Amino acid sequence: MHRRSSPLLSLALATALAWLPAGAHAQTVAGKIKVGFMLPYTGTYAALGTAIENGFRLYVQEQGGKLGGKDVEYFKVDDESDPAKAPENASKLVKRDQVDVVVGTVHSGVQMGIVKVAKENNTLLIIPNAGVDEATGPLCGPNIFRSSFSNWQPGNAMGQVVASRDIKRVVTLTWKYAAGEQSVKGFKEAFEAKGGKVVKELSLPFPNVEFQAQITEIASLKPDAVFVFFAGGGAVKFVKDWAAAGLKDKIPLFASGFLTDGTLEAQGAAAQGLETTLHYADGLNNARDKAFRLAYAKAYKLQPDVYAVQGYDAAQLLAAGANAVKGDMTRKAEVYKAMEGARVDSPRGAFTLSKAHNPVQDFYLRKVDGRENKVSSVAVRALADPARGCRL
Ligand code: PHB
Repeated sequence: MHRRSSPLLSLALATALAWLPAGAHAQTVAGKIKVGFMLPYTGTYAALGTAIENGFRLYVQEQGGKLGGKDVEYFKVDDESDPAKAPENASKLVKRDQVDVVVGTVHSGVQMGIVKVAKENNTLLIIPNAGVDEATGPLCGPNIFRSSFSNWQPGNAMGQVVASRDIKRVVTLTWKYAAGEQSVKGFKEAFEAKGGKVVKELSLPFPNVEFQAQITEIASLKPDAVFVFFAGGGAVKFVKDWAAAGLKDKIPLFASGFLTDGTLEAQGAAAQGLETTLHYADGLNNARDKAFRLAYAKAYKLQPDVYAVQGYDAAQLLAAGANAVKGDMTRKAEVYKAMEGARVDSPRGAFTLSKAHNPVQDFYLRKVDGRENKVSSVAVRALADPARGCRL
């Protein structure tokens, strides 16, 4: 008796199916959201690329592997932090793999090539690190989003901090490319507006790590303080060279927080006490961050850093868009609109996007203590990039 299908049950099932919108079944089963990672997996920024991918995948896993009801499929290109190869690499993802979204990259010079390809093809782009000011400035666009920062932002925050101390003459040092130059510009603008003076701007080509000539010059200039931009493997080497040259306790060293993020294990004693500004820190002590750090450590046997957070939040931004269209990424205008209006519940603290699609966010003053960039205070609250030249 119980083996015979009941006519009543069949009727109920048929009625229920009839109520499903046409194609709803096909839409949730067929089709995936194609995500193309264009990140550095080799070179001085290799660890940064991996952390971004880890963070992104963690958020997707937490959603059961789906965004907007669809499975996520990944494609990957190693951009090698090489700007010359950027257009070709970005085209591989956009044209060959036909991804719905490019998630990339770390290096500001490479980013310029990706932005160009994304604009030409109206492909959704989420920048999970590179700060190049143009991407949310003169080159801003409806399909260009950032989950990280503009180069101007952390520099500006540090300029305000240094100006508030008894420091008048500062020398700057960086790799000679957009990230370093624009960080220094942001620093200088804020520092000099409050009466300080940048007396010399030093640089060396990316990704050189022979800092001796510049360190010797700084020692002879005897400034009140130094501001630098370095990141990844180069940041590890610089902090060690600075201490080895005996300058650590002689000339105060300030930087955007990339100098000491994801690097402390390798920098050891040389980094202790360094003060930096960034949109993330250790010890934020909010529930969102605690849960994120626990999940990240469990998944990867690693502590997360700012890059992991930016990758995680890139996935959160994409989720806002994908959920609004139930995974139908061809509805681009609706995807962009939902992303624009998103309030991202980030481990760094919740943020919204500016009109140019750059996070409006708090910048923390941090101080290295052991293996942590411990938060000291909020240096600047809700700092928005000026988005000069952006018409959206
Ligand atoms: C950049 O090139 O924009 C860049 C690279 C590494 C960082 C921050 C910015 O840590």
